[in-house]
Amino acid sequence: MLRQRQVAPAVLSVHTEPIPRNPTELYLDLMKKVLTRALMARGMERHTIQPRGLKSRLVDQVNRLAGRFGLELVRLAPSRAEDYLESGHEAENRVEDAETMLGTRQLDHMQRCILDVVERNVPGDLLEAGVWRGGMTIFMRAALKAYGIGDRKVWVADSFAGLPAIDGRQETFAWQSGDMAVSLDTVRSNFARYGLLDESVEFLKGFFSETLRDGPIKRLAILRVDADLYGSTMDVLRNLYPVLSAGGYAIFDDYQNLPDCRRAVDEFRGDQGITEEIRRIDARAVYWQKQS
Ligand SMILES: C[S@@+](CC[C@H](N)C(=O)[O-])C[C@H]1O[C@@H](n2cnc3c(N)ncnc32)[C@H](O)[C@@H]1O
Repeated sequence: MLRQRQVAPAVLSVHTEPIPRNPTELYLDLMKKVLTRALMARGMERHTIQPRGLKSRLVDQVNRLAGRFGLELVRLAPSRAEDYLESGHEAENRVEDAETMLGTRQLDHMQRCILDVVERNVPGDLLEAGVWRGGMTIFMRAALKAYGIGDRKVWVADSFAGLPAIDGRQETFAWQSGDMAVSLDTVRSNFARYGLLDESVEFLKGFFSETLRDGPIKRLAILRVDADLYGSTMDVLRNLYPVLSAGGYAIFDDYQNLPDCRRAVDEFRGDQGITEEIRRIDARAVYWQKQS
């Protein structure tokens, strides 16, 4: 069982309201634990070994040999249930096949944001830009369905081919084009495995600079940006912040841990004169509620 720790700084009521324990909430609680694999946390996790360079040839050979006997070489890493509260795929101590890199704290926060925009009739759909295996968007659809909300879509926006070409003049982190690629078929099938692939889910395939340019999204109540790069974050903000409703939520996964993402957000806020307080969700993510 996970123990929920309090987030220390700037806490809004959306963070702290207790989630009631009825069947709807129990379903969503289970979804969070399965999508993050918190439920599967054991004493030691088994991780595929993916070394670079010469070592990778050695590991390949050992695995080929072991494979003949139905064996695989894996690394054991200690796992603590508390690690699943925080986001971060680089954590070495989590089950590696989760549908999301995010921790349960971020999924809790998303649930509260959804409840809040519904209760206050903030108009618009829900969108995540940068979905990887789709886990957060699967959770968004699960929440809408569980609460019986039929008039809002979940937009699933990604290249489904990983990061775009990296512009070295803008980006300081050593990403490579194609990093984190997960195909559209895989993400669709992840939705289907949870019984959540339906007409309320819209996939927007391609780089944000192309797909968001012609205004396919008319109004959003929740905009979640998880695209790592300065350029990608800026593309999303320029195209989608104007359609985020007043009272809606803007959420940025990497504001605290990726300087390029933070720079894009800070520059955009400066240019647009956005002064809403930035609040922390977990060790990586922040959000603000749009006032006007
Ligand atoms: C960190 S992952 C997203 C993690 C995900 N939100 C989760 O729940 O685990 C970043 C994603 O952003 C996508 N991405 C980054 N820049 C993009 C761009 N300019 N256009 C389309 N997709 C982009 C990548 O393909 C990748 O799937």
